Amino acid sequence: MDIKHLLNQMTIEEKIGQLLQIAPFLFIQDLDVEVYGFVKDLGLNEKRVFNAGSVLGIKNAKEMMEVQNKYLKKHRLGIPLMFMADIIHGYETIFPVPLALSCSWQPSLAEKVARISAIEASTAGIHVTFSPMADLVRDPRWGRVVESFGEDPYLNYMFAYHMVKGYQGDDIKKEGHIGACVKHFAAYGAAEGGRDYNTVDMSRSTLHNYYMSGYKGAIDAGAKMIMTAFNVLDGVPATVNKYLLRDVLRDLWKFQGVTISDYDSLHQIIEHGASENDFEAALLGIDAGLDIEMASTCYTNYLEKHIAQHNIDIKYLDEAVYRILHLKEKLGLFDHPFKDASEAKENELVRHETHLEDALNVAHECMVLLKNEDQILPMIKGSNVVLLGRYATSNETNGPWSWHGKNDLNISLYDAINKDFNVTYVSETLDQDDHVFKKIKEADYVICAIGEKTKESGEAHSKADINLKQSDIDMIHQALSHNPNVITLLYHGRPQLLEDILNVKAILETWFLGSRANEAIRDVLLGIKNPSGRLTMSIPRKVGQIPVYYNHLNTGRPKVENSHNEYVSYYLDVPNEPRYPFGYGLSYASFEYGTLKLSQETMRIHDKIEISIDVKNTSGRDGYEVVQLYIKDHAAAISRPVKELKDFKKVWIKAHETKKVSFTITIDKLMYKNDLGQDVYDLGTFTIMVGRDSLHVKHQTLRLVKE
Ligand code: GLC
Repeated sequence: MDIKHLLNQMTIEEKIGQLLQIAPFLFIQDLDVEVYGFVKDLGLNEKRVFNAGSVLGIKNAKEMMEVQNKYLKKHRLGIPLMFMADIIHGYETIFPVPLALSCSWQPSLAEKVARISAIEASTAGIHVTFSPMADLVRDPRWGRVVESFGEDPYLNYMFAYHMVKGYQGDDIKKEGHIGACVKHFAAYGAAEGGRDYNTVDMSRSTLHNYYMSGYKGAIDAGAKMIMTAFNVLDGVPATVNKYLLRDVLRDLWKFQGVTISDYDSLHQIIEHGASENDFEAALLGIDAGLDIEMASTCYTNYLEKHIAQHNIDIKYLDEAVYRILHLKEKLGLFDHPFKDASEAKENELVRHETHLEDALNVAHECMVLLKNEDQILPMIKGSNVVLLGRYATSNETNGPWSWHGKNDLNISLYDAINKDFNVTYVSETLDQDDHVFKKIKEADYVICAIGEKTKESGEAHSKADINLKQSDIDMIHQALSHNPNVITLLYHGRPQLLEDILNVKAILETWFLGSRANEAIRDVLLGIKNPSGRLTMSIPRKVGQIPVYYNHLNTGRPKVENSHNEYVSYYLDVPNEPRYPFGYGLSYASFEYGTLKLSQETMRIHDKIEISIDVKNTSGRDGYEVVQLYIKDHAAAISRPVKELKDFKKVWIKAHETKKVSFTITIDKLMYKNDLGQDVYDLGTFTIMVGRDSLHVKHQTLRLVKE
């Protein structure tokens, strides 16, 4: 399709129509009768609906084909609709939520999750997914932490990069491939107080050195779209923020894809106080470089007037429409407007048994073993078990943003384990009954499966108190009073405070692991699988510590262990460190690290430094170890973090085996961003650290010197 030629044929109304994204029901219900309600308020009518460029959400192939058919019959130039939806961690086969996925420290798994998600979603006629969500998060109060890849820029980059590769492959025109729309640009995860949609305010240094990394990973992987965030940055709503949408996205990163607002976020700049009305919002949006307006009609109602009044050059409209048409061309929609939509393919591929098997295997790698006193785990098959808590019998393990997934097709923990253990008592709550207490006393293990409901995290579900439910704490304390062998399983979408349950023998962080959650948990409880997840977010001791994250600056008065100097940066009532640090996670195996070796102790700009360390599995069990490489820049133009993750390797080490793990350091690993978002470095001293988490590392010094 000759896009330029098509563009020249379009009327201004048809061009503006391409910038509108609306829900599918508007194409299905008869709008040629008097429109009513919010549809009228939006200024929509039959003609405008059938000029729209894209659709938000779709039920299945049948509905997609009905809408596309009806639309193509009415559209003067036959420009097909593009269908977009939120496929975040699976379509109907649901995988672990992204925060859990990041704890696998296996970006290749994320690529597989995205690949399978695309195969399933494309059968319904979905062309673009609003994923990956690449918002770096340091605040577990924020409900959308569940959708994130955690607190580290490097992990955010790697997971966003590989998810885009999984969705798009090397050609989105191919069957089973869909476009990726990375979100939410930018820094949405830094909402003040962890309260969703709240103000974001940070330095350019923080923005570029931490929060931009995930979006850049997606764009480096070739993401076709990017969605603006609800928040302001520098006081300007991201949706109309020229610094973000033009200076960074177009000029610095050379992004040529499509930008899209979040739901109604262009209209909402009025609420932000950045515009008097939709008329002004339309001008601000097109001038800033916003292409598609999702679910509001500022462009639809006012852009033509702005062009007629010469408030904006039509070239801005043409550029936006060109990018949208170009994406439709890349998807092959002009030749195949239904692309992969197929009821037969839906029946064949959605929740395919191989996908469900993959969901189980991915879930195995996302669990984080936080505590395992007396090596109580793995459990002994056939033992007597009391099973308590909301998640003893619930199958709600898909988590937020799994709108096409069906929890009722999942199995509960009880159903997953009752053939492997003698479950003598199972209950969501602990009944105050001597017979129950007797069963607890006589049990070999008491499993307390607790956490949050699905709706306690996700969009618009932030919390000021992230403690466990008091009823769960009481239940655990009561169980402990009758039997010390209590194992706690956590099902939730955010790190929660664990201070009140630290006396249990074992804590297994399971997050929301998706369609096969409880079978994966069973495999870990039995030792069929050795847990290998590592935290990608610090778990605070107190809410008052938030934000608590590993890659913090040192301050001029750092707290020094065993120093009695009180004029330093610390709290009177709690240590600075989190309860469990970034990168932390136990295994059923145990590992020892040898001497950290560098090929050179001084490095010139173009050198490659080889790093190696022997890691020995000192146990009788095979297992994964996540070997992490951190670097500290001791003196730079700006204060640099006490350590930054720069690389990692998840290595399988057999029982009693030693593996040599190597990394390479090149100048890019010593760089940081200046206020303009450009890569810079400073000569001087660096500390190279390698270890099993951000606290337990071996050190070596490296000096970066002139050529
Ligand atoms: C929501 C979310 C965004 C999602 C969009 C479309 O408000 O912020 O992540 O992609 O609307 O559903």
